[in-house]
Amino acid sequence: MESFILSEWLLQNFKTLDDSPAYHRLYQLICRAILEGRMGAGARLPSTRDLAAELGIARNTVLQVYDQLSEEGYVRAGVGRGTYVQDISQDLVDPPADPRDPLDHAAAHQDSIHDLSRRGRALVSRLGFSNLQAGAFMPGIPDVREFPLKIWSRIQNRLWRREPWELMRYAPAGGYGPVRQAISDYLGSVRAVRSSAQQVVMTTGIHQGIDVAVRLLCDPGDTVWIEEPAYWGVRNLLLSAGLRLVSIRVDEEGICPSDAEHARPPRLIVVAPSHQYPLGMVMSLARRRMLLDYARQVSCWIIEDDYDSEFRYGSRPLASLQGMDESGRVLYAGSFSKTLCPGLRVGFLVVPEPLADAFADAVAELYREGNMMNHAVLAEFIREGYLAQHIRRVRRCYAERRICLIEQIRSHFGDALEIIGGDAGLHLILALPEGVDDILVVRDALQQGVVTRALSTYYLERTRARSGLLLGYAGVSPEEIRPAFDTLARVINTYL
Ligand SMILES: Cc1ncc(COP(=O)(O)O)c(C=O)c1O
Repeated sequence: MESFILSEWLLQNFKTLDDSPAYHRLYQLICRAILEGRMGAGARLPSTRDLAAELGIARNTVLQVYDQLSEEGYVRAGVGRGTYVQDISQDLVDPPADPRDPLDHAAAHQDSIHDLSRRGRALVSRLGFSNLQAGAFMPGIPDVREFPLKIWSRIQNRLWRREPWELMRYAPAGGYGPVRQAISDYLGSVRAVRSSAQQVVMTTGIHQGIDVAVRLLCDPGDTVWIEEPAYWGVRNLLLSAGLRLVSIRVDEEGICPSDAEHARPPRLIVVAPSHQYPLGMVMSLARRRMLLDYARQVSCWIIEDDYDSEFRYGSRPLASLQGMDESGRVLYAGSFSKTLCPGLRVGFLVVPEPLADAFADAVAELYREGNMMNHAVLAEFIREGYLAQHIRRVRRCYAERRICLIEQIRSHFGDALEIIGGDAGLHLILALPEGVDDILVVRDALQQGVVTRALSTYYLERTRARSGLLLGYAGVSPEEIRPAFDTLARVINTYL
């Protein structure tokens, strides 16, 4: 990136961080530009005098920021004159938090994390997780009150009575055999995933599945494509593994790499083809073929994040990407976090056959897995048809909640605010007009007891970010949705 473009980018973003001191803003933005690969190794930073003039801040502030960046190894002073970006491709990345995001409590401990390794900092300096895990309108969570307690405990009691000593040991590599078989059969029938039980490796969820896949398939500095926008959990996992993230635009057909991006193949591509997160589109057949052909040609891997494809309220979902893959390039990551409950921490990876044993061994070596009692219950729960039955029941329940929320939106705003991705999943997006700062809306709503997430925070590149609110409806009853949306509408109205 030429320095004058960097200045433009800084200027644009500098204004949007208007709550924190100039020094912090500038430091954070330049770090971001380097860590996100906008400025490659050797790129020259603008002179301190020019940058200070352009941003309208004291030159001393720019000097201090350059000094700190130099001390931390992001830049070096050139032999002649000028400041240049260091090669950090072997280092681990460290994207700073957005100090305005009320759900990103990393902002609060920015000053206290300097003792951590780069990898540690990368992990905790821009958090996505929240301790708020219930209530209107926390996205990404099912209604745990709908969990099939009676059936689950009946199966569990039956197993406990049968001398369950085997289930109380560490799990064998890959996990408890019968659950791997049950999942393989289930995925074959509902998602057209092609696998044997040996290819199903049990994990604690999609997070762990992606973590182990990245450890086994990538080295620090490798390039990974992620969708723009994308789920923060996956983004942070990849950043903390020292990977170079390239965020690829999505359109209505899903991920849409440009010719220039095609020309620089990544090591790994992470996509959610059945239900893009958070925008909600389904990847078209043409795009799926393109992606599979490309992965075969350039020998890169694809992780298919299939986190909630069971919840479609109108059309049927397309089959999995993995089921179309003839070259063994796709790893399918799944989980019971949305279909049953997130606290169960049961998920799985379906890996190409030649990798299966290595993955099973690696998971056992790294995490020393157990949890076989839950795996055994789940195996019977699936086999006896209870999973399919439960999903049908909660799908009806979430469909009603979705309609209730859409009615609330329409009654307050008519068609003035667009609803994005409203026909599937556990959340929808209420788009806000350009210029409305969604992070501030989230902050104000939170003060009134309503939890939402800002769409803009899901973008790596803030200049592409759309303004909007992710509203989870699955975890809240219509009786909870109505008053909560009245409150949220009042907040939104103060910004329109
Ligand atoms: C797109 C996406 N992938 C993965 C996950 C997490 O899955 P797990 O609970 O299985 O780790 C989530 C959770 O919200 C998600 O939204």
